[in-house]
Amino acid sequence: MDMIAWDDNLSTGVDELDGDHRQLIDCYNMLSGEFIAGCRAAEINRLLALLVEHTEGHFRREEALMDQARYPKSASHREEHRALLQSVTLLQFKAVSATGNPLSSYTLSFLRSWLVNHILDADKVLAQFLLRPSAAVIAAEEPLPLSVAIRAGSSWSETHLL
Ligand SMILES: [Fe+2]
Ligand SMILES: [Fe+2]
Repeated sequence: MDMIAWDDNLSTGVDELDGDHRQLIDCYNMLSGEFIAGCRAAEINRLLALLVEHTEGHFRREEALMDQARYPKSASHREEHRALLQSVTLLQFKAVSATGNPLSSYTLSFLRSWLVNHILDADKVLAQFLLRPSAAVIAAEEPLPLSVAIRAGSSWSETHLL
């Protein structure tokens, strides 16, 4: 089964996303390695649990970035996340209840294609939106939370609060 080699083509240019994607790819590669090396059920269960955990954490962080940036394609992107998480969770559930090898080359190839294609398509489009030049301007113009505004603007707080 093929491993996924990280290369610049997979980089979105957003460090936080790339760090998470590398972690997911490492996890996939460990699963693939175990499939080739021995298919020990306990190890496969451990790696699938790790993949579910990393996937949930990554989707949470990525979706928070979408919300912050008011990403217009957020709904369809989240739908892709939901579908993958459902598949991986089901796979983990099957693995725990299986007596034999819960992995197949088909399953690994599904995971591999999903990861690579999602990064290359949906995540790269998101990254372009996050990195667009106007994003920095919008972030700078974002109103400060009230507590920060009070600390920063002493004249306002002196007039209204003190
Ligand atoms: Fe994504
Ligand atoms: Fe992602």
